[in-house]
Amino acid sequence: SAAEKGGWDSFMDKEIHEEPAAVQRTLFGRLDDEGNINLDEVRIDEHDFRAIDKIIVVACGTASYAGMVAKYAIEHWVRIPVEVELAHEFRYRDPILTPRTLVVAISQSGETMDTLMALRHAREQGSKVLAICNTQGASIPREADAVLYTHAGPEVAVASTKAFVAQITAAYILGLYLAQLKGTVFRDEIHQTLDSLKAMPQKIQQVLDTQPPRVAKAAEQLADANSFLFLGRHVGYPVALEGALKLKEIAYTFTEGFAAGELKHGPIALVDEGEPVVFIVPPARGRNILHAKVISGIEEVKARGAFIIAVAEEGDKDVERYADIIFWRPQCPTLMSPLVDVVPLQLLAMDMAKQKGYDVDKPRNLAKSVTVE
Ligand code: G6P
Repeated sequence: SAAEKGGWDSFMDKEIHEEPAAVQRTLFGRLDDEGNINLDEVRIDEHDFRAIDKIIVVACGTASYAGMVAKYAIEHWVRIPVEVELAHEFRYRDPILTPRTLVVAISQSGETMDTLMALRHAREQGSKVLAICNTQGASIPREADAVLYTHAGPEVAVASTKAFVAQITAAYILGLYLAQLKGTVFRDEIHQTLDSLKAMPQKIQQVLDTQPPRVAKAAEQLADANSFLFLGRHVGYPVALEGALKLKEIAYTFTEGFAAGELKHGPIALVDEGEPVVFIVPPARGRNILHAKVISGIEEVKARGAFIIAVAEEGDKDVERYADIIFWRPQCPTLMSPLVDVVPLQLLAMDMAKQKGYDVDKPRNLAKSVTVE
């Protein structure tokens, strides 16, 4: 009913607008008075945590892209390898699991059968499993050794939105906790990173307050496009994959997401006059070499007549020069950028689905939680 949607047109719209709260609530209660991370709720003892020498994230769909984002951050902070594996591929390839491997199962519903079976396999091999889950008491958190709940609140729309930003937040807390335990990052730097994380709800809000009219206009302009490419590098790569997934899930548009560096190794062959290409552009500040590389990718496809849509940091002059449509991101560190960059892409998918007259909350052929393998 309209009341359940809190005045929004759809659950998806409502849930996107709950993203600042989803991040905030996921952070809440995990930091003590000194600003250190306190994971008392997690039932894996410090000794076991310290011994961890590898993390494997298992998840499906949107949750797996949250895991990919987390890989960049956790490897950087904790200096241990992080693999991200689709849960349904995991146990069938005889993965290398030891008691020192931490398997992180990410699932909004906590009922995805593929992820549950991966969790069981990992535990049978003697690894510890930590669940990042949005649903209290679901099967995945019940069977895991430990749980870090995302507090995004119930997600009703089939296409996952607020759960994604909450999953990234929870995985970052886990990464910073491990860095704190292992001493791989200076205390001050952990505090600084946590401060950046705490500032993100307000930055997401800023995107929600300013970008929707731009996105709506873009959706109108692009309503007839048959296919889209999404490109990003570093943490922008999983964001590109997630943007592509959203558009395909609810607007039924053929999309592909790629690492922007792959462009020259294949995808550029798809670029033709008027082809919409979405670029996630990293911040230019801090002598970020990846910024220049993404810009040169934009130049390449522009030269072939592509229609460029960019998600870029406010004031990015290079992007202004080439892009046909820009969704602006408030300044934030690169590792935090997925939390804001995904927002206009979710809105774009939603607006395009609405344009086409589709039910954005209940796309054809999809289920909110897939409880069969
Ligand atoms: C289904 C949903 C997706 C979701 C995926 C994983 O395919 O349609 O939106 O990302 O399952 O769900 P989970 O509940 O495990 O996060």
